[in-house]
Amino acid sequence: MSTMLTVRELSLADIPLIADYWSDSSEEHLLNMGVELNKMPERSQFIEMLTKQYELPIEQKSSYCTIWEDDGKPIGHCNTNPTTFGEEAFMHLHLWNAADRKSGAGTALVRLSLQLFFENLRLKRIFSQPYALNDAPNRTLEKAGFNFIKEYTTIPGSLSFEQPAKLWEMSIDRFKQL
Ligand SMILES: CC(C)(COP(=O)(O)OP(=O)(O)OC[C@H]1O[C@@H](n2cnc3c(N)ncnc32)[C@H](O)[C@@H]1OP(=O)(O)O)[C@@H](O)C(=O)NCCC(=O)NCCS
Repeated sequence: MSTMLTVRELSLADIPLIADYWSDSSEEHLLNMGVELNKMPERSQFIEMLTKQYELPIEQKSSYCTIWEDDGKPIGHCNTNPTTFGEEAFMHLHLWNAADRKSGAGTALVRLSLQLFFENLRLKRIFSQPYALNDAPNRTLEKAGFNFIKEYTTIPGSLSFEQPAKLWEMSIDRFKQL
């Protein structure tokens, strides 16, 4: 992992990479993230959903996606979903390869994605609610400056099983003070 970490908006060429990440993920990795295995779409369905969102005007996207890069090479993605333009959104974070995790990149890249989300989606606040038993995103959100709101039982995403989730919030005012 180098220190040349950058973030940019999704391009069409990134869509197969995200679809590969999901369809190549082991059951263990998916369960660790709170994914209900029988809700997992096929790779072709990921391509279709991502392309549809890519083509929508930004004000109408339910998912707005940023790509994380190291030395110009895509290594992960961070998207909002659902998204209410001008108001609030829920954020998701993924480094695609285990070798890139646990060395500080996620924390730095989340901060860079937040900048794009607040600016481009004109948001007032951003939430994230990982599976409570998945330490990596919960500790990363804390380190990136998110405020812990509560732990509760919910179905946090369209692919999730019911689970204890930790709800974190970053307001625009808090972000400006970081
Ligand atoms: C979540 C993710 C993007 C975080 O990125 P990262 O580069 O691994 O995180 P960082 O190296 O910046 O670490 C941030 C903090 O989390 C901790 N952390 C990271 N991975 C961890 C793990 N597997 N277990 C426990 N703590 C972990 C780090 O130790 C650090 O805390 P510390 O400095 O207090 O020790 C990355 O781990 C990932 O993609 N994981 C798999 C996908 C996933 O679970 N996504 C969340 C779906 S909701």
